[in-house]
Amino acid sequence: MDEKRIKILAISGSLRKNSSNTNVLYALSNLKSKNTDFHFYEGLEHLPHFNPEIDTDNPPDPVTDLRKQLKLADGVIICTPEYARGVPGALKNALDWIVSSGEFVNKPVAVISASSRSSGGDKAHESIMLTLEMIEAKIPKESTLQIGAIGTKINSKVEILDSTTKEQLKSILNSLISSIKFN
Ligand SMILES: Cc1cc2nc3c(=O)[nH]c(=O)nc-3n(C[C@H](O)[C@H](O)[C@H](O)COP(=O)(O)O)c2cc1C
Repeated sequence: MDEKRIKILAISGSLRKNSSNTNVLYALSNLKSKNTDFHFYEGLEHLPHFNPEIDTDNPPDPVTDLRKQLKLADGVIICTPEYARGVPGALKNALDWIVSSGEFVNKPVAVISASSRSSGGDKAHESIMLTLEMIEAKIPKESTLQIGAIGTKINSKVEILDSTTKEQLKSILNSLISSIKFN
């Protein structure tokens, strides 16, 4: 009998073309096993600014789309840069849209922050963890990672240049998938 396929929604906190954070997600999708499907969320820049007054039974289409994609996913991987010691506004905006609708409740989520700075990204990491905790996401053990000096670890062709980073990414993926299987 066919094993159930596992659907992962990959969300990058960077809107940049050739973003190192988006490349981390591509690198992860290259490491996945064959029963796992990756879908890359591309709607971040189209979401309206969160406003509780338009968070009604009939929200804007990009919001409905985000909620649908989250609902369909067995697990989520977020990879984000840090801007000005915090989570990029576009990503925080997306998470704010999910507070009332609850798609993150009990959803297994892996969280990575990648920074060009050697020891950067920690504030964005701490901050997004607080938000995900508030919206009751399930962050499995060993499913979080901070990658500093990302430019030396994954290149623009999505080649992983550093063996430790490769092992860390494999471990994050395994931990997320295990938590989905035993969910
Ligand atoms: C406006 C701005 C603010 C930034 N602030 C921080 C910061 O507070 N901490 C940090 O580690 N990196 C900071 N960075 C560097 C980004 O984390 C780095 O450029 C990151 O690799 C960008 O990710 P991307 O390649 O996925 O777009 C900042 C970059 C920009 C453009």
